[in-house]
Amino acid sequence: MLRHLIFAFLGGVAFTVLLVNAQSQSGFISIDCGIPENSRYTDRITGIDYVSDGSFTDTGVSNNISPEYKSDKLEEQFLNVRSFPEGRKNCYTLKLDPGNSKFLIRASFMYGNYDGQGKVPRFDLLLESDPWESVEFENASSIIYKEVIHVPQKNYIYVCLVNTGFGAPFISALELRPLQNSTYVARSGSLALSERLDIGSTTNETFRYRDDVCDRMWWPISFNNVTLLSGSYSYFGDKYKLPSTVMGTAIMASNGSDFLNINWETSDPESKFYFYFHFAEVAEKQENDTREMTIYEGGDLCYDDIEAPRIISLNLSSSGLEGKTTSYLFGLTSIQSLDLSNNSLTGSVPDFLAELPSLTLLDLTGNNLIGSVPAGLVEKQKNGLLSLSLIILSLMGSVDSSLDENPHLCGLESCKEKKKKNKFIVPAVVASVVSVSILIIAVLCIFWNIRRRKQGTTKYHYLNYLNF
Ligand SMILES: *[C@@H]1O[C@H](CO)[C@@H](O)[C@H](O)[C@H]1NC(C)=O
Ligand SMILES: *[C@@H]1O[C@H](CO)[C@@H](O)[C@H](O)[C@H]1NC(C)=O
Ligand SMILES: *[C@@H]1O[C@H](CO)[C@@H](O)[C@H](O)[C@H]1NC(C)=O
Ligand SMILES: *[C@@H]1O[C@H](CO)[C@@H](O)[C@H](O)[C@H]1NC(C)=O
Ligand SMILES: *[C@@H]1O[C@H](CO)[C@@H](O)[C@H](O)[C@H]1NC(C)=O
Ligand SMILES: *[C@@H]1O[C@H](CO)[C@@H](O)[C@H](O)[C@H]1NC(C)=O
Ligand SMILES: *[C@@H]1O[C@H](CO)[C@@H](O)[C@H](O)[C@H]1NC(C)=O
Ligand SMILES: *[C@@H]1O[C@H](CO)[C@@H](O)[C@H](O)[C@H]1NC(C)=O
Repeated sequence: MLRHLIFAFLGGVAFTVLLVNAQSQSGFISIDCGIPENSRYTDRITGIDYVSDGSFTDTGVSNNISPEYKSDKLEEQFLNVRSFPEGRKNCYTLKLDPGNSKFLIRASFMYGNYDGQGKVPRFDLLLESDPWESVEFENASSIIYKEVIHVPQKNYIYVCLVNTGFGAPFISALELRPLQNSTYVARSGSLALSERLDIGSTTNETFRYRDDVCDRMWWPISFNNVTLLSGSYSYFGDKYKLPSTVMGTAIMASNGSDFLNINWETSDPESKFYFYFHFAEVAEKQENDTREMTIYEGGDLCYDDIEAPRIISLNLSSSGLEGKTTSYLFGLTSIQSLDLSNNSLTGSVPDFLAELPSLTLLDLTGNNLIGSVPAGLVEKQKNGLLSLSLIILSLMGSVDSSLDENPHLCGLESCKEKKKKNKFIVPAVVASVVSVSILIIAVLCIFWNIRRRKQGTTKYHYLNYLNF
């Protein structure tokens, strides 16, 4: 039970940058259950490409939902279902492409009186051979999503529906999305979703693909007595690949020194809960301001001293950056990887880049830089501490023409030679930032022995995502 989140806002550093993220459905398996075999379509609302379930299961029958449950706002995946009136257990087999090891698996259900019985069933789901969740409906138009993050042991996954004596199981859609292996790490077992909330949302919209490249679904939630914040957000190589629509809005306690309380209840006695909090600075702040907060769960300290710029990796490649450097980047003391390639940066390579203690990758190629490379950077690179890319890809267009047009331009190797001749002139790049903002810290709190209210059903571990 998450009782208190304490936010002591002391300001925050703000930067802004816009990036465009590539969005492909690579690795997605999107199955619309119950549509004619071998058919496929692109959903007009989400843009997701669905295929029929014919090649994923051998059993069951196709049905349409009753016309009175159809509407323009309903995703196409809910118009048909596959039901399993025969047999206790019926399964789907999802074959996996090699190369991914962790997956989000989502099963979706809407009864829609497909069988004309007017009675919602209740049944169980299995993942592999383990119990996943029970599926229960409030009414015929309830949409139920069950999600789990799972690391399969083999190159296929079974999802099974189990008849528990309360009506034939059915399913509307089954989806699988690859996730980066290093995200959502569980100590053991799989992680079933409890809630994933878009905090600070100013619309009533649930976001998923294409806003979220991993097609997680984010449900809006509103709070009383809070200040809504919004700004721009880009993930810069954040491994969670959080959607900018979700991260660009936030809430803050109305009185700056006040608490933000988030109440959360569970009916499940046996579960462990993982909370993932994602923070992004979206407010404009003064230069030296910082924002700090402490998170408590119940009375227990969960995470202390979250400070604004804790950026480890910043990828501003091809971001249309112009102009000279700024020392904002100097504040990024944790930064390990900085990619500023393919921009229109001018001026010289700033010395402070050599003083970023954790920097192991610096890419400044493809800019209009001039001057000398700081000795500290060259030294670090020589010692194998830094992977440094300065080679000029383009000044006016191509390597050759730029070098022809400006004989003083050179890459790192040739510059070293020139240095011997005491002509150490190098085009390089600079961080014309721009106010870059951010960032995000994904905070993971794991709470054990959570107290509860009611008897629970058989469930696995839960995940809760909160996004500020
Ligand atoms: C059906 O149940 C959902 C919750 O699952 C609820 O939001 C909706 O109002 C209900 N509809 C009717 C017609 O009762
Ligand atoms: C995925 O992460 C786990 C630890 O969380 C590790 O044991 C496993 O080797 C990783 N798998 C791949 C393919 O990187
Ligand atoms: C969101 O829903 C609430 C309650 O249903 C409504 O009052 C509000 O106007 C809606 N906001 C938007 C932006 O649609
Ligand atoms: C909001 O804050 C005001 C003033 O502090 C208080 O009177 C009111 O009860 C609060 N409203 C809610 C819903 O907490
Ligand atoms: C915030 O709360 C503190 C302590 O309750 C109070 O002294 C202060 O006036 C409040 N500030 C604002 C802006 O309401
Ligand atoms: C920010 O901090 C630096 C170093 O402490 C100081 O030189 C500068 O004047 C400060 N800027 C502002 C706006 O306070
Ligand atoms: C930065 O992003 C570009 C394209 O999005 C990619 O080609 C490049 O490898 C990335 N750089 C790093 C250091 O990951
Ligand atoms: C460089 O950036 C421009 C847009 O700023 C883009 O069109 C181009 O493809 C990028 N080139 C490389 C090599 O990434």
